[in-house]
Order: sequence, then structure tokens, then C-alpha cells
Amino acid sequence: MPDTYRKWVLDRPMVDDVLTPDQFALKEAPIPELEAGQALIRVKLINIHSATRARIANGATKPGDTDYSNYACAEVLKSRDKTFKEGDVIACQAGWQDHQVVSSESASVGYGAPSELVKALNGANSQWNYVFRPAMVKAWPSDVLMEMFGTSGMTAYFGLRECGPITPGDAVAVAGASGSVGSIAVQLAKAAGAYVVGFAGGVDRCRWVVETLGADQCLDYRADDFAAQLATAFPNGIDVFSDGVGGQLTETVMAEMNPFSRLFSFGGAAAFYADRLAAPAAQRPSLRRNFGISETVEAALKAKRMRSECWIVDEFYDERLKAEGDLSRLMRRGVVKPVNTVVDGFENLPSAIVGLYANPRAGKLQVRFEPEA
Ligand SMILES: NC(=O)c1ccc[n+]([C@@H]2O[C@H](COP(=O)([O-])OP(=O)(O)OC[C@H]3O[C@@H](n4cnc5c(N)ncnc54)[C@H](OP(=O)(O)O)[C@@H]3O)[C@@H](O)[C@H]2O)c1
Repeated sequence: MPDTYRKWVLDRPMVDDVLTPDQFALKEAPIPELEAGQALIRVKLINIHSATRARIANGATKPGDTDYSNYACAEVLKSRDKTFKEGDVIACQAGWQDHQVVSSESASVGYGAPSELVKALNGANSQWNYVFRPAMVKAWPSDVLMEMFGTSGMTAYFGLRECGPITPGDAVAVAGASGSVGSIAVQLAKAAGAYVVGFAGGVDRCRWVVETLGADQCLDYRADDFAAQLATAFPNGIDVFSDGVGGQLTETVMAEMNPFSRLFSFGGAAAFYADRLAAPAAQRPSLRRNFGISETVEAALKAKRMRSECWIVDEFYDERLKAEGDLSRLMRRGVVKPVNTVVDGFENLPSAIVGLYANPRAGKLQVRFEPEA
């Protein structure tokens, strides 16, 4: 049992919204004695989320802090907690650290409270903290557990279901098709028999979306004639738009949406990846505005009587086990493949976070702290 743990903290604030590896500092500290209701975990892998830089910019992560909002896979080493037992492999929120004391009583970091159903299913007060079933741990490594059964796979799964059923007659557009949620949404829509067109940044990434994910076409959203390419790619209009990007792209795509079509908005990646981050709003904007549903988009939705889904995925986490089962079956049949980029080594965490904003990658970016057996 270790006596100390290692933790990366933000050492200095960002300058001009640019993150560099030397802005992080490594600390070592003693592992505290467990109190009743607590468990000690060893973090195996964490997902790096695209909001990391925005959380630093808006002060949610301050110099001296680690960011406790990461979704992680961990093993319970020692426990005095009612839910997390020694030897369990769990999903939880964790800091940039290799060991952590957690509790099933803790609330989520950065999100609202879960429903009573989710609390009962998880045996925890956070939607993101739960024990993986042993069969799942046996079947899938931690990177797949946290990608396909983390928010990426779950968002694509519930998003298309709520916009569904997706039928072979549907023409589906997927923004961020090379990204974490989009790469799975493309595959699920293809598995349902739909005509699928992804959007990605640059020719190489577009080719990858077609060749690896099986999209019918992929358009470079940066192309000057993107709007014209969009109209050509969808001669009969768009029936479903899966959008985790927002911004100008969403407004452009609205022109090709069919009457009574379905818009699924789940994120605003364009704002997270912009060179300059928007100043924090004086008033908290709504989820719809954060996810790219501007007043112009609202007007288009109304004019074309479109259906619009917009939520945080934990709204459906009482159905998590069913989704895990369905996605497992699709992966076993080879219909859907996990898409992720794993950086190995706890020491590489700062460069991985910086790389999220600087280097192209496929699917979810994850850092695996130690090699898996
Ligand atoms: N509602 C929920 O429960 C939920 C769940 C999961 C994620 N999210 C949110 O959904 C968003 C996407 O998540 P993710 O994990 O899929 O992100 P991701 O893996 O970082 O992918 C984002 C994609 O957005 C594309 N992109 C970036 N800037 C763009 C722009 N200006 N125009 C068009 N495309 C742009 C990038 O494409 P290229 O690299 O090809 O340029 C990238 O592939 C994030 O905001 C995340 O916070 C919400």
C-alpha cells in the first residue's frame, strides 16, 4: 500500500489562453488515513475533456489546484465506504493524480445532482461514480470502459435513440466526426442503415472518417465552399443532425435541415477549441445557448418545425446498464469499434492536456497511468 501519492497541479495561469506543459507542477503528498465512508483508489486512466482549458480560464481550476472533474477508471485499494469495495474497478471523477480518497457520499464536480433513480443504481450521490460490473471489467480494458461506456459512447447512443429511431431512409449529418462522441455517432447511424455525412477539419481527417468509421462522405468544415459542399452532399436535405460543436457550423447546417427533422445538440466544442476563449458571461447562459442553439438557430427550428434534443447525458444514466449491454454487443459483432487515443504514463499528463488543443487526434484522448496487465 503506498504512503504517498503524486498529483499534477496548475502552477501558473494561462497567458493569452495558451496552455504549455510547464504551467503544470508535480507534487507529492502523504495519503491520508481513511475515515468511515471513504475509500482509497488507484487511478488507472483518465479521460481528458475538452473543457479543461475553459475551466482554467474561468477559474474553476486555479493555480495550486488539480482539476477534480475528470472522468476516470480506478481500482479500489482499501475501503471503509458502503459502495466501493476493495478490488472493485470503478468509474469516478478524479484529479490529475495517481491515488485519491473518494466517497460514494460525494456530489459530482461541475455538474448538477443526479436523479434519485441514478443515485439508487450507483449507490452514490454522483452520476459519475459507480462500480463497473465484473463481466464488463473482464471483457473490456479501462480505455474502452471510459470511452464507449463513458460519456462519449453513452451520448452518441442516447442521442441517436432520442432522435430516433434512425432508419435506413434517414440522411444524418455528424459534426466533430473525428472526435469522441462524433466518431461513435457516425458508426451507430451507419449501423442503423442511414446515409451518413461527417464534418471534420482537413482532408486527412475527412478521409479517416470515411475509411475507418464508414461514413458515406466527410466534408472539411474549414473549406471556403463548405455551404455549397453541404448542399451537394445532401440533395434531399438533412433528417438528423448530431451536433457537439455549435457556433457558425450549426447556423450553416440549418439551411439544409428538412421540415420536421431532428437536431441533437450536446456540446459546444467550437468554443472550447477556439484560439481565444470567450470571456465568462455575466449571466449563466442556458444549456441551449452553450450548445450552439443561437437565436438564429431557434428561429430555424421553429420555422421548419424541427425537433430539438439538448441535455447532459446523465439524464439517461438510470438506463446505463442497458446501454452498456447494447454497446457491448455492437462491439462484439464488430459493428462499432472504440475510437480513442491513449497516452501512456502519468508523467505525460501535462503534455497530453496541452496536445489536446494543439495536435489532431482520433476519438477520446485518455492518459493511462500505468500499463495494464
Ligand atoms: N451533453 C453531454 O452529456 C456531453 C457528453 C459528451 C461530450 N459533451 C460535449 O460535447 C462536445 C464534443 O465532445 P467530444 O468529446 O466529442 O469532443 P472532442 O473529442 O474534443 O471532439 C470535438 C470535435 O469538434 C471539432 N471542432 C472543433 N472546433 C470546431 C469548429 N470550429 N467547427 C467545427 N468542428 C470543430 C473537432 O474536429 P477536428 O479535430 O476534425 O477539427 C473535434 O473532432 C464537447 O463540448 C463536450 O464537452 C457533452
